[in-house]
Amino acid sequence: MTMAAILDGRRIAAEIRASVAERVDRLRRARGIVPGIAFVTVGEDPASLAYVAMKDRACAEAGIRSWQFSLPRDISEREVLERIAALAADPAVHGILVQLPLPGHIAAAAVQSAVPPEKDVDGFHPVNMGRLLLGEEDGFVPCTPAGVVELLVRSGGSWEGRDVVVVGRGAIVGRPLAALLMRKGPPLNATVTVCHTGTRDLARHTRRADIVVAAAGRPRFLTAEMVREGAVVIDVGINRVDDPSSPRGYRLAGDVDFEGVSRKASAVSPVPGGVGPMTIAMLLSNTARAAERRAG
Ligand code: GUN
Repeated sequence: MTMAAILDGRRIAAEIRASVAERVDRLRRARGIVPGIAFVTVGEDPASLAYVAMKDRACAEAGIRSWQFSLPRDISEREVLERIAALAADPAVHGILVQLPLPGHIAAAAVQSAVPPEKDVDGFHPVNMGRLLLGEEDGFVPCTPAGVVELLVRSGGSWEGRDVVVVGRGAIVGRPLAALLMRKGPPLNATVTVCHTGTRDLARHTRRADIVVAAAGRPRFLTAEMVREGAVVIDVGINRVDDPSSPRGYRLAGDVDFEGVSRKASAVSPVPGGVGPMTIAMLLSNTARAAERRAG
């Protein structure tokens, strides 16, 4: 039995980060511009704080300046919007990222709409989402979908016309990813099916896919019986599951039953070390692009 190739997101992300560092260096030398990004968190969600810390470190390594604004959990929506307005007006800030999820009393849609589209390095502003859906290529694309596509493309192979099944229709991954995969022309131009909680007989769809992207946020739901021999499987899940034997009391599990699926698929992305590092690399790339654009 052959084992699936591992889609090494860490290695590919490192390549992208190195090329972003070169772009950042060029901007600094040629124009005296240092790209800058502001991270906004609300409350103390441990996973969110950990993600932002990783993003912050990656920025420093690429020569991107960053600021962290950790706002208290009980802050009002109006105060969050004021903070974003101040960052929107600050010329040193090229990108603004508000880490999700937000506490229930703050509407994500209001916050996302307050970030100017040209500073929206997360790609969540309705204008950028709209551009993506319209098939326009000049907007910012959300980082995780962009990272999934880069992982596929840089792992080799032409994906034109292939059958891709995306499991999950969330606003951060599934929806924008579907739009990205079906962009016209190489290397994508895929035939996309989006499955979700309303789908009847999920396995019937996943079993005929050339590529399955698991982005449902359900630990290990995608098992070997659900994929066909030789499929490519991308795991977007990062779930915390209880594990009393771990010092932290939990461990990270993807949406894919890695052991089982890797005996049947031709390639699988691991968790951690797959899509996660790609998301961060694409954020750096978007931030460099925001600064390059402003420089003209
Ligand atoms: N929460 C989970 N994924 C993301 C992301 O890509 N960006 C932001 N801002 N929050 C998230």
